[in-house]
Amino acid sequence: MTLTALLLGALIVLVAGTMYFVFASFVFGAGYQPTPRRSVEAMLELARVGAGDTVIDLGAGTGAVVFRAAERLGARVVAVEVEPLRVLILRLRRRLSPARDRITIVWGDLFRRDFRDASVVALFLWPGAMERLRPILDAQLRPGARVVSHYHPFVGAQPTANDPGTKVFLYRWPLEPAPGTGT
Ligand SMILES: C[S@@+](CC[C@H](N)C(=O)[O-])C[C@H]1O[C@@H](n2cnc3c(N)ncnc32)[C@H](O)[C@@H]1O
Repeated sequence: MTLTALLLGALIVLVAGTMYFVFASFVFGAGYQPTPRRSVEAMLELARVGAGDTVIDLGAGTGAVVFRAAERLGARVVAVEVEPLRVLILRLRRRLSPARDRITIVWGDLFRRDFRDASVVALFLWPGAMERLRPILDAQLRPGARVVSHYHPFVGAQPTANDPGTKVFLYRWPLEPAPGTGT
């Protein structure tokens, strides 16, 4: 085998691996894109996450929100992720984390989870997945629970607060209709 064929093979594996890592979870509700650090800070700040909170991160990725909330703010965090490579990364990071006792990693579909215990729900999902999630949140969340979303708002709902610069939207459950909508 020539060097060119080897390099071509490696390139194909790399591209296919990256495509899998980023896009495969689309079928479950969202592809992979990590929340930028500034937005993670804004999410945690707007939701006033603290040591008394149980944060559930629905679609936890590689843990941008999870480790910040548990290590810096002392929150208990449940990270739900469907894609197995990211679950592996989450588990490795948890093992190395000084806050590991406060972090639970769940490999599974967020639409099948029970999050009655959550005081804060963190999201960075595609709009279709958020709409699908909405009635589940309605059925499960305690009144007053905070839901903080990066990038996409809940359509027709009035955020309690938002930070346009980092595209972070905070809601207190149950959702309040935006003025002029029937939501
Ligand atoms: C846009 S990424 C956000 C990742 C992470 N929250 C962050 O901020 O870095 C969305 C994540 O949701 C995960 N995901 C998509 N559908 C899911 C489902 N049905 N159940 C659990 N995780 C899901 C994807 O695998 C992906 O890691």
